[in-house]
Amino acid sequence: MPKKSKFYVTTPIYYANARLHIGHAYTTIIADILARWHKMLGEDVFFLTGMDEHGKKIQETAESSGKKPQKFVDEIAENAKKLWKSLDIEYDNFIRTTDKEHVKEVQKVLQKFYDEKLIYKGKYEAYYCTGCEQYKTASEIEEGMCALHKRPVELRSEGAYLFRLSKFQKDLLSLIKKDKYRIQPIERKNEIMYFLEKNKLNDISISRPKSEVYWGIELPFDKEHTCYVWIDAFLNYLTGLKDKKYWPADVQLMSKDIFRVHATIWPAMLLALKKELPKQLFIHGYFTINGQKMSKSLGNVVDPFYVAEKYGSDVLKYFIIRHIPLGSDGDFSETALKDRHNNELANKLGNLVSRVSGMCKGIIPSGITDDSLASRLKLTEIMGHMNNIELDRALAEIFAFIDKCNEYVQQKEPWRLEGKEKDNALYNLADSIRVISILISSFMPQTSQKINEQFNFPKPDIKNLKFGLAKKGIINKADILFAKIE
Ligand code: MSP
Repeated sequence: MPKKSKFYVTTPIYYANARLHIGHAYTTIIADILARWHKMLGEDVFFLTGMDEHGKKIQETAESSGKKPQKFVDEIAENAKKLWKSLDIEYDNFIRTTDKEHVKEVQKVLQKFYDEKLIYKGKYEAYYCTGCEQYKTASEIEEGMCALHKRPVELRSEGAYLFRLSKFQKDLLSLIKKDKYRIQPIERKNEIMYFLEKNKLNDISISRPKSEVYWGIELPFDKEHTCYVWIDAFLNYLTGLKDKKYWPADVQLMSKDIFRVHATIWPAMLLALKKELPKQLFIHGYFTINGQKMSKSLGNVVDPFYVAEKYGSDVLKYFIIRHIPLGSDGDFSETALKDRHNNELANKLGNLVSRVSGMCKGIIPSGITDDSLASRLKLTEIMGHMNNIELDRALAEIFAFIDKCNEYVQQKEPWRLEGKEKDNALYNLADSIRVISILISSFMPQTSQKINEQFNFPKPDIKNLKFGLAKKGIINKADILFAKIE
């Protein structure tokens, strides 16, 4: 038997300084859809997510809430796990950077870099934003404020250990240019190439004095310093793997805010470790509220628990993917979600399923495939979109086929037909619903499962993604899929 190909997908590990919001759910939902899709393709999938739990920001937030940092991050991590459960997210590992194994591995890497003189002692001075936990370049500062967080940056100078990032500039540029380190969409690739061509990459400080940041991983070669949180965090993508066979990552997902560090420091660390680079970074846009990035620091966040509870996780997933072309920014609004729920999920998908099951009167009849309907499904395009992480476009194509099925009902008017002709029309509609259910199973797993249970269709499998496989059989009574929201 040929070896199964593997698929390793990651989300960023989110900061454990506050509860997660819809923006974080966006990335994790994309990862979940990809993981489910590749599993259905028969691949050996590993999906990693988790929490970034060290650093000054978390230390300060914990202190100001009167809690020990460990207790503080434990609570946030529990809450995040609960969130992923309520959104029906099937990750394979939830890594926390306070995990003992992770800490040990990070120290090993630091020692190795130190021994190989890739880390050296020096002095570092630059502007720093505690919101980002990053030193900022001139272009990221507006009137003394961090452009992202709108809070003052501080000039910092410190005795520090530095990582020789500068050494990797040429290699990084060439790897990115040749798509050996593929950055998607193309605008982001161009942006980072421009950045690497015009700016000099400086060596970066990878340490913080313990007196300032005690909540971090101790440097193995200097107990007075802790490790800069980003170095610690990047390594999760390696330490979170239960089996090394999954490396390199096939897709690393994130938004624009953390893309530059992922296109510079992270691959440089991997080159220093002589490890293969991830195959691609995919950078999606921001969820905005009235045009502003939704973020904890700006205080304009939407609570995903609320949305999932009120509308269901499938509806949230559908909305989130369908509403925003992957790669662009898009505004979140409950009104838009309700509109899509009513006009697309209830009126198109829900209606198709309930009309067909009603007309069938409890039985899928036998019949032969009608190409005039089957040929309207653009399967090759859908597969291509899934492969290129154009999830919004794949979903749009699936729903275009749902439209075709509804038109077929209008055209054929099965209720006016009799005998074989009627059976055939109904058979083709039921068979199409079976195919649709397979296609939506990665996006809306619960809806797909409900359809399969109602029609007695087998579990979603790529092998069944063709027409004519529906079997004559019983359709169970079921509630409607999407009740209209007034
Ligand atoms: N801890 C770092 C990541 C370390 S990875 C080695 C971090 N954490 S974060 O909590 O700030 O998460 C940032 C990521 O969350 C973004 O890159 C994106 O994936 C997701 N999002 C957070 N807010 C978002 C929006 N408003 N819109 C879209 N995605 C958002 O950075």
